[in-house]
Amino acid sequence: MEKIKEKALKSGASKVYIEDVKEEFVKEYLFKAIKSRALYEGKYLLGTAFARPLMAKKLVEIAHKEGAEYICHGCTGKGNDQVRFELGIAALDPTIKIIAPWRIWDIKSREDAIDYANLKGIEVPVTKEKIYSVDKNLWHVSHEGGDLEDPKNEHKIEMYAIVTPPEKAKDEASYVDIEFEKGVPKKVNGKELNPVELIEVLNKIGGENGIGVIDIIENRLVGMKSRGVYETPAGSILYEAHRYLEYLTLDKETLHFKEIISHKYTKIVYNGLWFTTLREAIDEFIEKTQENVTGKVKLKLYKGNIIPAGVESKFALYDKDISSFGYSEVYSHKDAEGFINLYGLPIKIKAMMKMGMIK
Ligand code: ARG
Ligand code: SIN
Repeated sequence: MEKIKEKALKSGASKVYIEDVKEEFVKEYLFKAIKSRALYEGKYLLGTAFARPLMAKKLVEIAHKEGAEYICHGCTGKGNDQVRFELGIAALDPTIKIIAPWRIWDIKSREDAIDYANLKGIEVPVTKEKIYSVDKNLWHVSHEGGDLEDPKNEHKIEMYAIVTPPEKAKDEASYVDIEFEKGVPKKVNGKELNPVELIEVLNKIGGENGIGVIDIIENRLVGMKSRGVYETPAGSILYEAHRYLEYLTLDKETLHFKEIISHKYTKIVYNGLWFTTLREAIDEFIEKTQENVTGKVKLKLYKGNIIPAGVESKFALYDKDISSFGYSEVYSHKDAEGFINLYGLPIKIKAMMKMGMIK
Protein backbone atom coordinates (compact mmCIF):
# COMPACT_ATOMS: atom_id res chain seq x y z
CA MET A 1 0.00 0.00 0.00
CA GLU A 2 2.96 2.32 0.67
CA LYS A 3 4.12 1.66 -2.89
CA ILE A 4 0.70 2.57 -4.22
CA LYS A 5 0.81 5.81 -2.28
CA GLU A 6 4.26 6.66 -3.66
CA LYS A 7 3.15 5.82 -7.17
CA ALA A 8 0.04 7.97 -6.91
CA LEU A 9 2.03 10.96 -5.69
CA LYS A 10 4.67 10.44 -8.38
CA SER A 11 1.93 10.28 -11.02
CA GLY A 12 0.60 13.69 -9.99
CA ALA A 13 -1.91 13.09 -7.20
CA SER A 14 -2.08 15.94 -4.69
CA LYS A 15 -3.41 13.76 -1.89
CA VAL A 16 -3.76 10.02 -1.30
CA TYR A 17 -6.14 8.05 0.90
CA ILE A 18 -5.21 4.46 1.71
CA GLU A 19 -7.94 2.79 3.74
CA ASP A 20 -7.99 -0.72 5.15
CA VAL A 21 -11.56 -1.87 4.59
CA LYS A 22 -10.91 -5.59 4.75
CA GLU A 23 -13.08 -6.18 7.80
CA GLU A 24 -16.06 -4.39 6.27
CA PHE A 25 -15.44 -6.31 3.05
CA VAL A 26 -15.65 -9.65 4.83
CA LYS A 27 -18.54 -8.85 7.17
CA GLU A 28 -20.80 -6.91 4.83
CA TYR A 29 -19.99 -8.57 1.51
CA LEU A 30 -18.15 -11.90 1.72
CA PHE A 31 -20.29 -13.38 4.49
CA LYS A 32 -23.29 -12.59 2.28
CA ALA A 33 -21.49 -14.30 -0.61
CA ILE A 34 -21.06 -17.45 1.48
CA LYS A 35 -24.62 -17.47 2.85
CA SER A 36 -26.15 -16.89 -0.57
CA ARG A 37 -23.71 -19.12 -2.43
CA ALA A 38 -23.45 -16.50 -5.17
CA LEU A 39 -21.73 -18.19 -8.11
CA TYR A 40 -21.76 -16.66 -11.59
CA GLU A 41 -22.42 -19.11 -14.40
CA GLY A 42 -21.85 -21.96 -12.00
CA LYS A 43 -18.21 -21.16 -11.32
CA TYR A 44 -17.06 -17.61 -10.63
CA LEU A 45 -17.12 -16.59 -6.95
CA LEU A 46 -17.47 -12.89 -7.82
CA GLY A 47 -14.34 -11.62 -6.07
CA THR A 48 -14.30 -8.47 -8.18
CA ALA A 49 -18.05 -7.94 -8.28
CA PHE A 50 -18.38 -8.02 -4.46
CA ALA A 51 -15.52 -5.54 -4.01
CA ARG A 52 -16.80 -2.82 -6.33
CA PRO A 53 -19.80 -1.58 -4.30
CA LEU A 54 -17.62 -1.17 -1.20
CA MET A 55 -15.02 0.71 -3.25
CA ALA A 56 -17.78 2.92 -4.69
CA LYS A 57 -18.96 3.63 -1.13
CA LYS A 58 -15.47 4.63 -0.02
CA LEU A 59 -14.95 6.79 -3.11
CA VAL A 60 -18.16 8.68 -2.40
CA GLU A 61 -17.19 9.15 1.27
CA ILE A 62 -13.84 10.61 0.21
CA ALA A 63 -15.44 12.78 -2.47
CA HIS A 64 -17.72 14.21 0.22
CA LYS A 65 -14.78 14.83 2.59
CA GLU A 66 -12.91 16.62 -0.18
CA GLY A 67 -15.93 18.42 -1.60
CA ALA A 68 -15.23 16.78 -4.96
CA GLU A 69 -17.83 16.87 -7.73
CA TYR A 70 -16.18 14.25 -9.94
CA ILE A 71 -14.92 10.72 -9.49
CA CYS A 72 -12.47 9.34 -12.05
CA HIS A 73 -11.89 5.62 -12.60
CA GLY A 74 -9.56 3.55 -14.73
CA CYS A 75 -12.00 0.91 -15.97
CA THR A 76 -12.09 0.18 -19.65
CA GLY A 77 -15.21 0.92 -21.67
CA LYS A 78 -15.68 -2.78 -22.41
CA GLY A 79 -16.06 -4.32 -18.99
CA ASN A 80 -18.34 -4.85 -16.00
CA ASP A 81 -16.40 -2.75 -13.53
CA GLN A 82 -17.32 0.60 -15.09
CA VAL A 83 -20.97 -0.31 -14.61
CA ARG A 84 -20.49 -1.49 -11.02
CA PHE A 85 -18.58 1.62 -9.94
CA GLU A 86 -20.89 4.03 -11.66
CA LEU A 87 -24.13 2.42 -10.44
CA GLY A 88 -22.70 2.29 -6.91
CA ILE A 89 -21.71 5.94 -7.02
CA ALA A 90 -25.06 6.95 -8.54
CA ALA A 91 -26.96 5.14 -5.78
CA LEU A 92 -24.99 6.89 -3.03
CA ASP A 93 -24.71 10.36 -4.58
CA PRO A 94 -26.46 10.94 -7.90
CA THR A 95 -24.94 14.42 -8.24
CA ILE A 96 -21.38 13.13 -8.65
CA LYS A 97 -20.14 13.14 -12.24
CA ILE A 98 -17.87 10.47 -13.69
CA ILE A 99 -14.63 10.80 -15.63
CA ALA A 100 -13.60 7.60 -17.43
CA PRO A 101 -10.40 8.26 -19.43
CA TRP A 102 -10.59 4.93 -21.28
CA ARG A 103 -13.80 6.17 -22.86
CA ILE A 104 -12.49 9.65 -23.68
CA TRP A 105 -8.81 9.40 -24.56
CA ASP A 106 -7.16 7.63 -27.48
CA ILE A 107 -6.01 4.72 -25.32
CA LYS A 108 -7.58 1.79 -27.14
CA SER A 109 -5.73 -1.19 -25.70
CA ARG A 110 -3.59 -2.33 -22.79
CA GLU A 111 -0.58 -1.91 -25.11
CA ASP A 112 -1.53 1.76 -25.63
CA ALA A 113 -1.90 2.17 -21.88
CA ILE A 114 1.60 0.76 -21.31
CA ASP A 115 3.05 3.13 -23.94
CA TYR A 116 1.34 6.05 -22.24
CA ALA A 117 2.68 5.03 -18.80
CA ASN A 118 6.21 4.63 -20.18
CA LEU A 119 6.02 8.03 -21.87
CA LYS A 120 4.96 9.71 -18.62
CA GLY A 121 7.41 7.77 -16.41
CA ILE A 122 4.66 5.92 -14.54
CA GLU A 123 5.77 2.51 -13.27
CA VAL A 124 3.36 -0.32 -14.11
CA PRO A 125 3.57 -3.94 -12.98
CA VAL A 126 2.81 -5.26 -16.48
CA THR A 127 4.80 -5.59 -19.66
CA LYS A 128 3.65 -6.30 -23.20
CA GLU A 129 4.76 -9.91 -22.62
CA LYS A 130 3.01 -10.25 -19.24
CA ILE A 131 0.05 -8.12 -20.05
CA TYR A 132 -2.68 -9.77 -17.94
CA SER A 133 -5.28 -7.60 -16.31
CA VAL A 134 -5.10 -8.63 -12.65
CA ASP A 135 -7.45 -7.73 -9.82
CA LYS A 136 -6.42 -8.82 -6.33
CA ASN A 137 -8.18 -8.58 -3.01
CA LEU A 138 -8.67 -10.69 0.11
CA TRP A 139 -11.18 -12.97 -1.64
CA HIS A 140 -9.55 -13.59 -5.00
CA VAL A 141 -7.07 -12.85 -7.74
CA SER A 142 -8.44 -12.50 -11.27
CA HIS A 143 -6.52 -12.81 -14.52
CA GLU A 144 -7.81 -11.67 -17.90
CA GLY A 145 -6.31 -10.64 -21.23
CA GLY A 146 -3.05 -11.65 -22.91
CA ASP A 147 -2.88 -15.25 -24.14
CA LEU A 148 -6.08 -16.05 -22.21
CA GLU A 149 -8.00 -14.18 -24.90
CA ASP A 150 -7.66 -17.20 -27.16
CA PRO A 151 -9.85 -19.87 -25.54
CA LYS A 152 -7.92 -22.68 -27.18
CA ASN A 153 -4.86 -21.78 -25.07
CA GLU A 154 -4.45 -23.65 -21.82
CA HIS A 155 -3.86 -21.11 -19.07
CA LYS A 156 -0.31 -20.96 -17.76
CA ILE A 157 0.08 -22.12 -14.16
CA GLU A 158 2.92 -19.60 -13.83
CA MET A 159 0.28 -16.88 -13.60
CA TYR A 160 -1.02 -18.13 -10.24
CA ALA A 161 -0.43 -15.56 -7.53
CA ILE A 162 -1.73 -17.32 -4.41
CA VAL A 163 -2.39 -20.94 -5.35
CA THR A 164 0.30 -23.61 -5.68
CA PRO A 165 -0.55 -25.52 -8.86
CA PRO A 166 -2.01 -28.94 -7.92
CA GLU A 167 0.85 -30.75 -9.62
CA LYS A 168 3.30 -28.99 -7.31
CA ALA A 169 1.13 -29.06 -4.18
CA LYS A 170 1.92 -31.09 -1.06
CA ASP A 171 1.73 -34.87 -1.25
CA GLU A 172 -0.17 -35.19 2.04
CA ALA A 173 -3.76 -34.05 2.35
CA SER A 174 -4.68 -31.31 4.84
CA TYR A 175 -7.78 -31.65 6.98
CA VAL A 176 -9.60 -28.51 7.93
CA ASP A 177 -12.46 -28.11 10.44
CA ILE A 178 -14.74 -25.13 9.95
CA GLU A 179 -17.40 -24.11 12.47
CA PHE A 180 -20.33 -21.97 11.39
CA GLU A 181 -22.89 -20.01 13.39
CA LYS A 182 -26.04 -19.05 11.48
CA GLY A 183 -24.18 -19.47 8.19
CA VAL A 184 -21.17 -17.40 9.25
CA PRO A 185 -17.77 -19.12 9.61
CA LYS A 186 -16.33 -18.53 13.09
CA LYS A 187 -13.62 -21.09 13.82
CA VAL A 188 -10.98 -22.91 11.84
CA ASN A 189 -9.45 -26.04 13.38
CA GLY A 190 -11.01 -25.18 16.73
CA LYS A 191 -9.60 -21.67 16.83
CA GLU A 192 -11.85 -18.62 16.88
CA LEU A 193 -10.62 -16.14 14.27
CA ASN A 194 -11.67 -12.63 13.36
CA PRO A 195 -13.30 -12.38 9.91
CA VAL A 196 -10.19 -11.17 8.09
CA GLU A 197 -7.84 -13.72 9.72
CA LEU A 198 -10.29 -16.47 8.92
CA ILE A 199 -10.14 -15.73 5.19
CA GLU A 200 -6.35 -15.31 5.31
CA VAL A 201 -5.82 -18.63 7.09
CA LEU A 202 -8.04 -20.50 4.63
CA ASN A 203 -6.36 -18.81 1.66
CA LYS A 204 -3.06 -20.13 2.95
CA ILE A 205 -4.21 -23.71 3.65
CA GLY A 206 -6.20 -23.80 0.42
CA GLY A 207 -3.44 -22.24 -1.65
CA GLU A 208 -0.88 -24.78 -0.42
CA ASN A 209 -3.17 -27.60 -1.50
CA GLY A 210 -3.82 -26.25 -4.98
CA ILE A 211 -7.44 -25.32 -4.16
CA GLY A 212 -9.58 -22.70 -5.82
CA VAL A 213 -8.50 -22.14 -9.43
CA ILE A 214 -11.24 -21.82 -12.00
CA ASP A 215 -11.06 -21.08 -15.70
CA ILE A 216 -14.22 -19.74 -17.30
CA ILE A 217 -15.53 -18.08 -20.43
CA GLU A 218 -18.09 -15.76 -18.90
CA ASN A 219 -20.82 -13.52 -20.27
CA ARG A 220 -20.14 -9.90 -19.39
CA LEU A 221 -23.01 -7.53 -18.72
CA VAL A 222 -21.94 -5.43 -21.72
CA GLY A 223 -22.59 -8.35 -24.03
CA MET A 224 -19.34 -9.99 -25.01
CA LYS A 225 -17.85 -13.20 -23.67
CA SER A 226 -14.61 -12.98 -21.76
CA ARG A 227 -12.09 -15.57 -20.60
CA GLY A 228 -10.94 -15.38 -17.02
CA VAL A 229 -8.83 -17.38 -14.59
CA TYR A 230 -9.59 -16.88 -10.92
CA GLU A 231 -7.87 -17.97 -7.72
CA THR A 232 -10.25 -18.15 -4.78
CA PRO A 233 -8.89 -20.69 -2.26
CA ALA A 234 -10.66 -19.58 0.95
CA GLY A 235 -13.86 -18.87 -0.95
CA SER A 236 -13.92 -22.30 -2.56
CA ILE A 237 -13.39 -24.01 0.81
CA LEU A 238 -16.02 -21.90 2.56
CA TYR A 239 -18.64 -22.36 -0.18
CA GLU A 240 -18.14 -26.11 -0.04
CA ALA A 241 -18.19 -26.32 3.75
CA HIS A 242 -21.25 -24.09 4.02
CA ARG A 243 -23.14 -26.06 1.41
CA TYR A 244 -22.37 -29.29 3.23
CA LEU A 245 -23.79 -27.88 6.43
CA GLU A 246 -26.89 -26.72 4.56
CA TYR A 247 -27.37 -30.24 3.22
CA LEU A 248 -27.62 -31.36 6.83
CA THR A 249 -29.67 -28.52 8.29
CA LEU A 250 -31.97 -27.05 5.60
CA ASP A 251 -35.27 -28.68 4.74
CA LYS A 252 -35.74 -29.76 1.14
CA GLU A 253 -38.04 -26.96 -0.09
CA THR A 254 -35.97 -24.20 1.51
CA LEU A 255 -32.76 -25.62 0.06
CA HIS A 256 -34.29 -25.91 -3.40
CA PHE A 257 -35.88 -22.47 -3.33
CA LYS A 258 -32.66 -20.95 -2.08
CA GLU A 259 -30.93 -22.29 -5.20
CA ILE A 260 -33.34 -20.31 -7.39
CA ILE A 261 -32.85 -17.19 -5.29
CA SER A 262 -29.09 -17.63 -5.34
CA HIS A 263 -29.16 -17.55 -9.12
CA LYS A 264 -30.97 -14.19 -9.11
CA TYR A 265 -28.78 -12.79 -6.34
CA THR A 266 -25.67 -13.72 -8.32
CA LYS A 267 -26.86 -11.71 -11.31
CA ILE A 268 -27.64 -8.73 -9.11
CA VAL A 269 -24.11 -8.75 -7.71
CA TYR A 270 -22.43 -9.42 -11.05
CA ASN A 271 -24.39 -6.67 -12.77
CA GLY A 272 -23.58 -3.97 -10.22
CA LEU A 273 -27.02 -3.72 -8.62
CA TRP A 274 -25.78 -3.92 -5.02
CA PHE A 275 -27.44 -0.78 -3.70
CA THR A 276 -30.99 -1.83 -4.56
CA THR A 277 -34.11 -2.83 -2.68
CA LEU A 278 -34.14 -6.21 -4.37
CA ARG A 279 -30.63 -7.07 -3.20
CA GLU A 280 -31.49 -6.06 0.36
CA ALA A 281 -34.75 -8.00 0.29
CA ILE A 282 -33.05 -11.15 -0.92
CA ASP A 283 -30.43 -10.77 1.81
CA GLU A 284 -33.26 -10.74 4.36
CA PHE A 285 -34.64 -13.95 2.88
CA ILE A 286 -31.25 -15.60 2.96
CA GLU A 287 -30.67 -14.47 6.54
CA LYS A 288 -33.87 -16.26 7.59
CA THR A 289 -32.71 -19.49 5.95
CA GLN A 290 -29.47 -19.40 7.94
CA GLU A 291 -31.09 -19.60 11.42
CA ASN A 292 -30.08 -23.23 11.87
CA VAL A 293 -26.98 -23.33 9.68
CA THR A 294 -24.79 -23.86 12.72
CA GLY A 295 -22.33 -26.70 13.10
CA LYS A 296 -18.99 -28.12 12.13
CA VAL A 297 -17.71 -29.34 8.77
CA LYS A 298 -14.52 -31.27 8.17
CA LEU A 299 -12.95 -31.18 4.72
CA LYS A 300 -9.99 -32.95 3.22
CA LEU A 301 -7.93 -30.80 0.84
CA TYR A 302 -5.75 -32.61 -1.62
CA LYS A 303 -4.08 -31.37 -4.81
CA GLY A 304 -6.88 -29.08 -5.92
CA ASN A 305 -9.70 -31.26 -4.57
CA ILE A 306 -12.07 -30.52 -1.71
CA ILE A 307 -13.41 -33.75 -0.25
CA PRO A 308 -16.08 -33.76 2.49
CA ALA A 309 -14.87 -35.57 5.61
CA GLY A 310 -17.78 -35.26 8.03
CA VAL A 311 -20.40 -32.79 9.21
CA GLU A 312 -22.27 -32.33 12.49
CA SER A 313 -24.92 -29.95 13.81
CA LYS A 314 -27.31 -29.78 16.74
CA PHE A 315 -29.92 -28.74 14.14
CA ALA A 316 -29.36 -31.72 11.84
CA LEU A 317 -32.51 -32.76 9.96
CA TYR A 318 -30.86 -36.01 9.04
CA ASP A 319 -31.94 -38.83 11.30
CA LYS A 320 -30.18 -42.13 10.99
CA ASP A 321 -33.20 -44.07 12.24
CA ILE A 322 -35.47 -42.48 9.62
CA SER A 323 -33.00 -42.55 6.74
CA SER A 324 -31.62 -46.06 7.29
CA PHE A 325 -33.16 -48.83 5.20
CA GLY A 326 -34.23 -50.65 8.35
CA TYR A 327 -37.39 -50.31 10.46
CA SER A 328 -38.43 -46.90 11.82
CA GLU A 329 -41.38 -45.59 13.85
CA VAL A 330 -42.17 -42.53 11.71
CA TYR A 331 -41.75 -44.13 8.30
CA SER A 332 -43.55 -47.26 7.30
CA HIS A 333 -42.59 -49.09 4.11
CA LYS A 334 -46.30 -49.79 3.61
CA ASP A 335 -47.14 -46.05 3.28
CA ALA A 336 -44.95 -45.87 0.19
CA GLU A 337 -47.42 -47.93 -1.85
CA GLY A 338 -50.29 -45.43 -1.51
CA PHE A 339 -47.91 -42.53 -2.01
CA ILE A 340 -46.65 -43.94 -5.29
CA ASN A 341 -50.23 -44.58 -6.50
CA LEU A 342 -51.29 -40.98 -5.95
CA TYR A 343 -48.00 -39.37 -6.99
CA GLY A 344 -48.01 -41.40 -10.20
CA LEU A 345 -51.69 -40.88 -11.02
CA PRO A 346 -51.12 -38.28 -13.79
CA ILE A 347 -48.54 -40.55 -15.42
CA LYS A 348 -50.92 -43.51 -15.32
CA ILE A 349 -53.82 -41.49 -16.73
CA LYS A 350 -51.70 -40.24 -19.63
CA ALA A 351 -50.61 -43.80 -20.44
CA MET A 352 -54.21 -45.03 -20.22
CA MET A 353 -55.32 -42.29 -22.61
CA LYS A 354 -52.61 -43.29 -25.11
CA MET A 355 -53.76 -46.89 -24.96
CA GLY A 356 -57.38 -45.89 -25.53
CA MET A 357 -58.40 -47.01 -22.04
CA ILE A 358 -60.20 -43.72 -21.33
CA LYS A 359 -62.42 -41.63 -23.56
N1 ARG B 1 -14.61 -10.62 -15.14
C1 ARG B 1 -14.59 -10.46 -13.72
C2 ARG B 1 -15.74 -9.62 -13.28
O1 ARG B 1 -16.34 -8.96 -14.08
C3 ARG B 1 -13.27 -9.90 -13.24
C4 ARG B 1 -12.99 -8.47 -13.59
C5 ARG B 1 -11.64 -8.06 -13.15
N2 ARG B 1 -11.48 -6.64 -13.18
C6 ARG B 1 -10.35 -6.00 -13.40
N3 ARG B 1 -10.40 -4.70 -13.38
N4 ARG B 1 -9.23 -6.62 -13.67
O2 ARG B 1 -16.10 -9.60 -12.12
C1 SIN C 1 -12.22 -3.48 -17.17
O1 SIN C 1 -12.85 -3.52 -18.23
O2 SIN C 1 -11.86 -2.40 -16.66
C2 SIN C 1 -11.88 -4.74 -16.45
C3 SIN C 1 -12.74 -5.89 -16.80
C4 SIN C 1 -14.16 -5.74 -16.42
O3 SIN C 1 -14.54 -4.79 -15.78
O4 SIN C 1 -14.99 -6.64 -16.77
